[in-house]
Amino acid sequence: MKTSPARTAAFEILMRVETTDAYASELLNSSRFSRLSTADHGLVTELVMGVLRWCSVLDNAFAKHINKPLTKLDPEVLVALRLGSYQLSFLDRIPRHAAINESVELVKRSGKTSAAGMVNAVLRKLMKLHFRPPAEVAHPEWMVKRWSDNFSAAAAQKICEYDQHPPQPAFHTDDSALVTELAEDAIELEPGKLLKSSFVLRSGDLPRTAAFRDHRLGVQDEASQLVAILVGTGTTILDCCAAPGGKTRILAEQNPKTNIVAIELHPRRAALLKKLVSESNVQVLSADVRAMPLNRQFDRILVDAPCSGTGTLARNPEIKWRLKAEDLSRLEAYQLEILGSAMKHAAMGGRIVYSTCSLEPEENQQVIEKALTDNPAFHVIDARSRLLELQSNGELAWKDIDSLITGPYLRTIPGVHPCDGFFAAILECK
Ligand SMILES: C[S@@+](CC[C@H](N)C(=O)[O-])C[C@H]1O[C@@H](n2cnc3c(N)ncnc32)[C@H](O)[C@@H]1O
Repeated sequence: MKTSPARTAAFEILMRVETTDAYASELLNSSRFSRLSTADHGLVTELVMGVLRWCSVLDNAFAKHINKPLTKLDPEVLVALRLGSYQLSFLDRIPRHAAINESVELVKRSGKTSAAGMVNAVLRKLMKLHFRPPAEVAHPEWMVKRWSDNFSAAAAQKICEYDQHPPQPAFHTDDSALVTELAEDAIELEPGKLLKSSFVLRSGDLPRTAAFRDHRLGVQDEASQLVAILVGTGTTILDCCAAPGGKTRILAEQNPKTNIVAIELHPRRAALLKKLVSESNVQVLSADVRAMPLNRQFDRILVDAPCSGTGTLARNPEIKWRLKAEDLSRLEAYQLEILGSAMKHAAMGGRIVYSTCSLEPEENQQVIEKALTDNPAFHVIDARSRLLELQSNGELAWKDIDSLITGPYLRTIPGVHPCDGFFAAILECK
């Protein structure tokens, strides 16, 4: 029996996510799946992201019909059960027989023929869910509890709800000709909610446009755009932790005459950054920021640190199943090392923007507090003053500045704001 290209691709991606540290969004956007038709690519995205968003709900639904713990199942069997049960429980337009038979076929093709009968029997017992489970149950309890304690119960609920839906793609541009070109390519846009130069996709196939293919636009969440804009203008700029380069691109747009050094640890990601951001004023280096390959000072530095990514679960849902609470202290120590190294390269009067897409205080204010104790030459600049500046020069479209501020920091919260959860602190070297 044949399996559809969409289910075959979804199975392959979910297997990679289950058995390696790959991210579904990167695989979905990779060249391997770029030849799928628009409709098939849409279905693969729906299947992969749906399974990852609702994974715990799906596992609970079929675990009842299996007489051994799910941890004892082969990953191929587990993934086929998730793929089948997501279609049966959550999607209206998929015929039952296609969801069941193709999952059985995918198990057989992966070499687990002996489990095919069990997969068939279990999926036949599953019914469509006649209610949408609360978004909180599709998140680890410890994570929801933290958000409830650190923000509020209402905010935690909003975060969970936001995480369960595909975020609308956004991009940043000051180029009105590009917007006209996209309109001619049947791309319907709406204005960004946070920023004046941001656009949000209403309808159309953005990845298939010439502008997207030629890297003249990069899809980037509005909160991530805002962080890059916080950096402002400088005569020398260092972008630590730069790939894939969404923020580097905005720094380059806003500082066309400034030499920008963009550093990225992984050579493959540095090469991708070079490809995506080809502006001649950007110099890309592949290096570890903790052993800085430069002996210079900069007046603007961006440290967009590697982090848990709990502010991006709508686009990276696998993070919620991979992350453990105990990972946070390891991340904090790493972030502190990176920030400490960047601080050595700030010129007198220079500024550092430290940011993460994490909702966790360990990776955010705690890193800043410790870094300031270790480096008393720095102090925090109130992010409110910078946001007011951006509001008065028309760059910030969002009216309620208070809601974007926690203490002296920028703090966006998914669902509370229409974007990913980003933290940013502005530090100045006295
Ligand atoms: C949050 S991502 C940066 C996103 C990027 N600023 C953007 O807007 O597109 C963090 C990046 O830091 C890189 N990284 C991790 N450790 C690093 C280190 N020690 N030195 C330099 N880069 C590092 C990771 O490979 C990853 O690409």
